[in-house]
Amino acid sequence: MDKLLINGGRRLDGRLRISGAKNAALPILSATLLTDQPVVIANTPHLHDVTTMIELLGCLGVDVVIDEKLKVEVTSRKLKQLRAPYDLVKTMRASFLVMGPMLARFGEAEVSLPGGCAIGSRPVDQHLKGFAALGAEITVENGYVRAQAPNGLTGAEVIMDLVTVGGTENVMMAAVLADGKTVLKNAAREPEIIDLGNFLNSMGAQVSGHGTETIEIEGVTELRGCEYSVMADRIETGTYLIAAAATRGHVRLEHTDPTLLEAVLERLRVAGADIETGENWIELDMHGERPRAVDIETQPYPGFPTDMQAQFLAMNAVSVGECRVTETIFENRFMHVQEINRLGADIELINHSTAHVRGVEQLHAAPLMATDLRASFSLVIAALVAEGRTLVDRIYHIDRGYETIEEKLALLGADVQRVSR
Ligand code: UD1
Repeated sequence: MDKLLINGGRRLDGRLRISGAKNAALPILSATLLTDQPVVIANTPHLHDVTTMIELLGCLGVDVVIDEKLKVEVTSRKLKQLRAPYDLVKTMRASFLVMGPMLARFGEAEVSLPGGCAIGSRPVDQHLKGFAALGAEITVENGYVRAQAPNGLTGAEVIMDLVTVGGTENVMMAAVLADGKTVLKNAAREPEIIDLGNFLNSMGAQVSGHGTETIEIEGVTELRGCEYSVMADRIETGTYLIAAAATRGHVRLEHTDPTLLEAVLERLRVAGADIETGENWIELDMHGERPRAVDIETQPYPGFPTDMQAQFLAMNAVSVGECRVTETIFENRFMHVQEINRLGADIELINHSTAHVRGVEQLHAAPLMATDLRASFSLVIAALVAEGRTLVDRIYHIDRGYETIEEKLALLGADVQRVSR
C-alpha cells in the first residue's frame, strides 16, 4: 500500500497549475448518461474517483475514450444494464449520481446504497424524496435503491429539507428530461452546481437559477452531445494555499478562480497571509511569518467549505494563539485531530462538532495514518511543517481527490516521496 514519506521543515515556494474540479467532473460525467450522442469533457482531473466513475459508466455499457490530454469522450448509445453495482458504488458516494440521469432517460435505475468517506452518516433520503416528487416509485431492497417511472418523470416543486450538494445535482439531472417545469427550492449553491447546470444547458437543457437557492428546470424531450471544460478545483486551490501558509511559504496558483474562494481567502488574510489575485490566479505570501490562529465554522457555499476544514485546522495547529474550529456539515469529521496531535499539536475535541486549538511553534515527525480524503491532506500539511521524516500511511485516500500530489508538492520545493513498503 502506498505511503508518503515527507521530510518536513521546509517552506513551500513556487507556482502550480490547478487541476479540474473533482466535484464538478463527477456529476458532469454522470450527466453524460442523459444523451445518446458523444460528449467530450476537457480538463478532467486524473484522480482515482474519476477513474471509478469512468469504470462505473463502462460497467453500465457506456463507451469511454480518454485521450492523452485527459479529454474524455463518452457515448452512451445503449446501456447494457441500469444497475450500478455495490462494488463500484461502495468506494465512492458520488456514484449515486448516476441514478438521476438513468431514471430520467430510461425510466428506471437501480443503484446500490453508497459508501465513500467514513465521515458520519451520509444518507440519500433527499435524493429519493426529489425523485419521488417527480413521480418515480422508489423501493429499497437488499442494499439497492430502485427507482421506476415507466411513463417518464413529471416536473414538480421539490423542496429540500436540508442543503445537499449531491441531492441538488441528482434531482437537477432527473428533472432535465421530465415533462414540464421543476422548481427546486433550498438548493445547494456550490460552484460545482453552477458548472453542472452550465454543462446541462450546453447539452440543450433549460436550467436557470443554478447558483441560487431556487433552480428552475424546464423539461426538454432530448439532449444532445457537446464539448465542455470542467471548472478549476477550488478545494485543491485552497488546500495548496493553506499548505503554503502553514509552512510560512509563498505560492502562486494558476488556472484557478479566486472568486470561488472568498470565505477561505478572507480567513487566510486574517491569519496574516498577504494575498493577491488576478482573473485566473492567486498568490499567497506569508513573508516567512507564522500564521495567526483563526476561528472557522464550516457552512454550505458561500460559507467556509467543510472540504477545507481539516487542512485549515492543521495550519491552526502551528499558528500563534488559540482558536475554535467548528464543523456543521458532517458528523465525525475530526478523525485527523488525534493524528495531528501525534506530531505534538495541542488540539482538544470539545464535542463532535468543535475542536479547540492551541497553536504550537513546532511539530515533530511521527508515523501517521490517513483516514479520509480531505483529512489526509491535513496530515500532509502537518508533516510538511514537522521537523524530521513523517511517513503517512493509507494515502489511497489522497489519490481519490488530489492529482499527482508528490509531483505538485515537489514543484513547491517539498521533500516528498511515494513509497510502497
Ligand atoms: C459533496 C461533495 C463533498 C462535500 C459535500 C459538502 C461531491 C462529489 N462531494 O458531497 O466533497 O464535502 O458535498 O460540501 O461533490 N444529507 C442528508 N440527506 C441526503 C443528502 C445529504 O441528510 O439525502 C446530509 C449529509 O449526511 C451531510 C449533509 O447533508 O451531513 C451534506 O451532504 P451533501 O451536501 O449531500 O454532500 P455530498 O453531495 O455527499
